[in-house]
Amino acid sequence: MPAPRVFITGIAGFAGSHLAELCLDAGDVVFGTWLPGTSTRNLDAIRDEIEITAVDLLNPKALTRVLQRIRPTWVIHLAASTSVGDSFSSPGNTIRNNVISSLNLLEAIRQDRNLMKSVEKIVMLASNEVYGRVRPSQIPVDENTPLRPVNPYGASKAAVDLIAESYRASFKLPTVRVRASNHTGPRQAPGFVVPDFCNSIARLERKSGKRVMKVGDLSARRDFSDVRDIVKGYRQLAQDGKPGIVYHLGSGKVRSIQSVLDSLLKLATQPITAVVDPKKLRPVEVPILRADISRAQRDVGFKPSIPWNQTLLDTLEYYRQCRSK
Ligand code: GDD
Repeated sequence: MPAPRVFITGIAGFAGSHLAELCLDAGDVVFGTWLPGTSTRNLDAIRDEIEITAVDLLNPKALTRVLQRIRPTWVIHLAASTSVGDSFSSPGNTIRNNVISSLNLLEAIRQDRNLMKSVEKIVMLASNEVYGRVRPSQIPVDENTPLRPVNPYGASKAAVDLIAESYRASFKLPTVRVRASNHTGPRQAPGFVVPDFCNSIARLERKSGKRVMKVGDLSARRDFSDVRDIVKGYRQLAQDGKPGIVYHLGSGKVRSIQSVLDSLLKLATQPITAVVDPKKLRPVEVPILRADISRAQRDVGFKPSIPWNQTLLDTLEYYRQCRSK
């Protein structure tokens, strides 16, 4: 069997770059798109082993051209506006970037007979944010939990999820839907809780005097994983996921943001005080999310393995080395 040709949208991003490394290790032929004008430094170590093209996914013609040239076996659609926080300040951008780019991708494949033949799997990324403010009795959420997003990001991902399934049912596109929980690790940009905390700590460690960091809501609880475990799940779903089925990827465990902060402050080399900044509180908060991951474990062998403390340490180290400003 020839090696699969994997096409990763958002390949230069946080999860995209980790996925590209994993696919190369697995012997895949790796292609991808990155947003023109943005950095590709996450790919520096593997730049010569992959083929990447600068394409704005909001440009359907450019996207169609690159897909027609590459004729991938698997498409893994990671490019998105992924920050819930940003979705409150720029809801239109989040919705446009997530929904229209996904639509353009599915349409490019649907409208080309050769692509309909070559593409065996399309992994479409949603999020467990689609469930919104679930009741404690609904925890852990399984894949049948009703979609009730409460922020523009969650709504955009619910739309992507439903559009992906409609293209399978209507046009036989082999879409597999993934609702991923929070994942973090080296290369994740500020705007998410772990990088925000690591960035502040790395900066304050180099400062003298009183060290104070600003934080948001510490009471929320989330299902955190290491990005390097989650991208393994994406590839497993490209290989063995069943079109039409929704899969959760996560840790299956829940942690409070307070406990994440406490663990990171223990890793800091200097004493740091955290204060809640009302500006960092959201207009609506999702108090708890924890996913039932048994379907992905059973059907494709998904098995997260990286200890949480390792993830925190690696992310903090990344910010100490190259990110903190
Ligand atoms: N970003 C951020 N920064 N969040 C903070 C901070 C802070 O300084 N302090 C507290 N928080 C709280 C947020 O209010 C939220 O309750 C929690 O930390 C997690 O916030 P994020 O890391 O921004 O992630 P998220 O849970 O809103 O969304 C992430 O997970 C989704 C899956 O559940 C993102 O990665 C999404 O793209 C992903 O789909």
